[in-house]
Amino acid sequence: MKRIIVLASGSGSNAENIANYFKDKTNAKVSYILTNNAKAKVLDRAKRLEISSKIFTKQEFAEGKNVLDFLKKEADLIILAGFLLKISPEIVAAFPNKIINIHPALLPKYGGKGMYGMNVHNAVVENKEQETGITIHYVNENYDEGAIIFQESVAVSPEDTPEIVASKVHELEYAFFPKVIEEIVNNL
Ligand code: GRF
Repeated sequence: MKRIIVLASGSGSNAENIANYFKDKTNAKVSYILTNNAKAKVLDRAKRLEISSKIFTKQEFAEGKNVLDFLKKEADLIILAGFLLKISPEIVAAFPNKIINIHPALLPKYGGKGMYGMNVHNAVVENKEQETGITIHYVNENYDEGAIIFQESVAVSPEDTPEIVASKVHELEYAFFPKVIEEIVNNL
């Protein structure tokens, strides 16, 4: 049974979706949800889903040691799902091709520092893009720059608000992220 650890800083709807996807499977499960934000709604989701959760401070994620020791003990695969901090180089080095992030746009467009959540969808609408989508990629030391694993696009209509774009992107995330994770976890 492979142990998937999900890191989230906010709402955690992807974390919940992934946990539910693996709930009745025998190949892997979400064993922990980690966050840097004691007020993150993802903690309420973890409690309701009866999944263990742990809070590490921003400092601990930056320094890496406490988080690294924990992940070495507990994780086979690490998923970033709405996690807003950079992963320390020590952790990246310790888990080659085992840290995966989902970005709510078609990287390399609309990626990098500050490009998260509604900032991304606002920019897509402001630039009158005709499509957007999701990018699932391996994580390296820089935001949104690791090797791309999977992308899926969706059309953006001229009348779409950023909120409508966000909901279209979330639909792609919920449909594809667990399946991409399962493909990877089955080949660990
Ligand atoms: C998602 O749009 C994901 O692509 C991005 O952050 C958002 C997290 O949403 N990385 P949630 O916390 O999973 O609801």
